[in-house]
Amino acid sequence: MKTPASPSPFDAMAFRKCLSQFPTGVCIVTAASDAGPIGMTISSFNSLSLTPPLVLFSIDRRAQSLPAWEAAANCAIHVLSQEQRDLSNRFARPDANKWEGLNFRTQDNGTPILSGAAAVMECQRHAAHDGGDHVLFIERVSRFQTFGERKPLMFCQGSYHALGTEGVHAELWPLDIHY
Ligand SMILES: Cc1cc2nc3c(=O)[nH]c(=O)nc-3n(C[C@H](O)[C@H](O)[C@H](O)COP(=O)(O)O)c2cc1C
Repeated sequence: MKTPASPSPFDAMAFRKCLSQFPTGVCIVTAASDAGPIGMTISSFNSLSLTPPLVLFSIDRRAQSLPAWEAAANCAIHVLSQEQRDLSNRFARPDANKWEGLNFRTQDNGTPILSGAAAVMECQRHAAHDGGDHVLFIERVSRFQTFGERKPLMFCQGSYHALGTEGVHAELWPLDIHY
């Protein structure tokens, strides 16, 4: 069910700027549709559950491809590598022919798989929920590949970033419980 619009208690642009202080990776989610392959750049990806293996992302209700995403039983989530900025821009352009001249392979269920990602998760739809002006998709991971030698592309303050310094190991990681 869609959340009814209510007067914002604060400035939406200022809120956006606040949210952009939170760095994320960048993913491209792909799926098959009646009209051919669909794909979109997203930064709303996150892990949700280990058992069962669930991940999530959200799509703007204004996206032209939203009906196709709502109908998609399967998808693939590609965690982009540092070398894939152009691909991220390509899949963020509405109306563009995102697939023109692009090499990709297709799984038996029709899901397109792109090459060069830092990780790929093949998923089946678990649930879709109202997320205000977005729709929240929860996906169950059925298969995944990790390319540890590739560094992930980062996104923060409206710009792409590369991981700069060597990481410092988090003392308490991994915890028995999540995080
Ligand atoms: C770095 C980055 C992250 C994005 N993250 C999201 C997201 O999480 N959800 C979303 O709906 N759109 C996101 N977008 C915008 C969509 O990629 C863009 O609006 C989409 O490709 C339009 O698709 P359409 O052709 O279906 O309208 C993001 C764009 C960029 C550049």
